[in-house]
Amino acid sequence: MIRLTIPSIEEDDLQAVCNILATGYLVQGPQVAAFEQAIAEYVGARYAIAVCNCTAALQLALLALDVGPGDKVAVTTYSWPATGNVIALCGAQPIFIDIDPVTYNMDPQALERILEQTSVKAIVPVHTFGGMADMRRICAVADRYGVPVVEDAACALGAELEGCRAGVWGIIGCFSFHPRKAITTGEGGMIVTNNDILARRLRILRNHGINPDAPDPDFIAPGYNLRLTEFQAALGLSQMKKVERIIKKRQALAAHYNKLLERSCLTSPRSLAGSRHVYQSYVALLPPEAVPHRSAIISALRQCGIEITIGTYHMPLTTYFRTLYGFQPGDFPITDEIAARSISLPLYETLQNEQQEHLIWTLIQEIEKHGSTSLNS
Ligand SMILES: Cc1ncc(COP(=O)(O)O)c(C=O)c1O
Repeated sequence: MIRLTIPSIEEDDLQAVCNILATGYLVQGPQVAAFEQAIAEYVGARYAIAVCNCTAALQLALLALDVGPGDKVAVTTYSWPATGNVIALCGAQPIFIDIDPVTYNMDPQALERILEQTSVKAIVPVHTFGGMADMRRICAVADRYGVPVVEDAACALGAELEGCRAGVWGIIGCFSFHPRKAITTGEGGMIVTNNDILARRLRILRNHGINPDAPDPDFIAPGYNLRLTEFQAALGLSQMKKVERIIKKRQALAAHYNKLLERSCLTSPRSLAGSRHVYQSYVALLPPEAVPHRSAIISALRQCGIEITIGTYHMPLTTYFRTLYGFQPGDFPITDEIAARSISLPLYETLQNEQQEHLIWTLIQEIEKHGSTSLNS
């Protein structure tokens, strides 16, 4: 089976986890602090706060910004539903913003059109699949309206725009260490910020409301328990030693896919000018005429031992948001098209070029079987 993803876990990662398990100190301690520091340094943020996953990171980010019932939050349409769910979980209303057809990320012009008419408490762009959203323009719009930006950088550790890493463009950035990300802690998340007041609030919220500065436990707010364990942090630290190696390999594999898709009926992903794409996923577009056959194509490839899947989700058309707000196809036309055509291809460090060649050949055969042509030219 050519799997969609395989995390890069090696002997030193196993050893790092075992060493911590053997100490018996298992919950948030020196390993978590060291992992936080490693991420803060890597992304160029003053503070990093580890949590148990990126969904928790995003929800705490919104709570730290006082997002609550009656508020509206501008958010991209095209993402893993956690991005929209956390807004609903805070009691606020997501205001969905359609995407740019090239980067699959929040369209700054569409954002501006919404902000002209609607007051929002925060803006949540996503760096979808590890490709940077147009943060220069999104932050300019946000500044004009005085709205804070929370970056959903779940997939974008190491991505950059104009030399500035994902996560530090907005007031808060959130990362995931789920196994489909470049580095993993199993489940895991990190919040980064340069703002000391927000960093303190986030530490209180993640740990039962305990005052992080008091010598003895003192509970100064209602807080959650969203902490990371010591053995997850040890794994994260071990993984961070190889993050650049992993990203460079993923970029090389993406470049090989790009070459294989040149002149084919599939459209390869593109990144924003001046940005560094880290390819959390390699998501290409099927030709429009293959859209009705996408599920059949995915199943046929699985039968051939090749695991592929869709890109990600059209959040306004998921049952929850569609039913609540009455969204329909046509409300977000760019997302309609990209979500319907997207296909995510296998990508992991040990994937071989020959496997890529084989799976692309198989995919094109399968598309042709369903009545499309393999070559545009
Ligand atoms: C864009 C995006 N945001 C948020 C999340 C949630 O991350 P986690 O699984 O760490 O909670 C994901 C997960 O894949 C994601 O892709």
